[in-house]
Amino acid sequence: MRTIAVIALKGGSGKTTLAAHMALAAHLRGLQTLVADVDPQRSASEVMTAREAEGPRCVTVSGAGLFAAQLAAVGSGVDLMVIDTAAGAVEDVGQALVLADLALLVVRPTLLDIAALARTWEIVRRLNKPALVVVNQAPVPRGGVEAPVVKRALRALDYLRLPIAPTILRNRAVYQTALETGRSAEEAADATAAKEMAALWTYLAPLAFAERDGPTEAAEG
Ligand SMILES: Nc1ncnc2c1ncn2[C@@H]1O[C@H](COP(=O)(O)OP(=O)(O)O)[C@@H](O)[C@H]1O
Ligand SMILES: [Mg+2]
Repeated sequence: MRTIAVIALKGGSGKTTLAAHMALAAHLRGLQTLVADVDPQRSASEVMTAREAEGPRCVTVSGAGLFAAQLAAVGSGVDLMVIDTAAGAVEDVGQALVLADLALLVVRPTLLDIAALARTWEIVRRLNKPALVVVNQAPVPRGGVEAPVVKRALRALDYLRLPIAPTILRNRAVYQTALETGRSAEEAADATAAKEMAALWTYLAPLAFAERDGPTEAAEG
């Protein structure tokens, strides 16, 4: 079993949107998937509850309860656990990171978000975790040209030497509307958004499931 933690110290960056979409992507590809919702606002749980079709299981849990949730997930044949965290919850984020095989740091392309990200990155770096920055809510390029805000953000991320996912998630209404009914953009009638999310999953999955030594393998025996 593998664990992806979605983190950002800033609120509204898109943690729940990304966590739900990655969990749904895994589910749609036949993986036994569990969402661990650590955010007291329970947004990820609401998304999963709103879903009519079969979907990922979801548990609400405190940061301190994550380890037990992970062990239980290993025991019940879960392939992927996706942890959705709350903004500013440094301790919970620490717990999630300790248990994660891959951390996703969600950031909007604004300098304020990137400044907050630099602090989060420090925690990730200290724990020596495989991690990737996912830029979210970026304006759609016009005529193939990135908006100046996006260019500036990418330069800032580059300057910080942060690894960035090659797929940038754009500002698209479908990401909101699909999740209202617990569906992924991959299941909604928006081919562009579907392709975007699929591309991100295709890039992330091998990173999350990469062979590596450590307690995950030991737990699997
Ligand atoms: N790529 C996107 N395009 C359009 N709206 C988005 C996108 N990502 C997030 N949102 C919206 O922004 C708001 C905050 O996103 P959310 O995932 O709840 O952030 P967080 O969990 O980090 O607080 C929500 O209303 C969500 O629907
Ligand atoms: Mg959230």
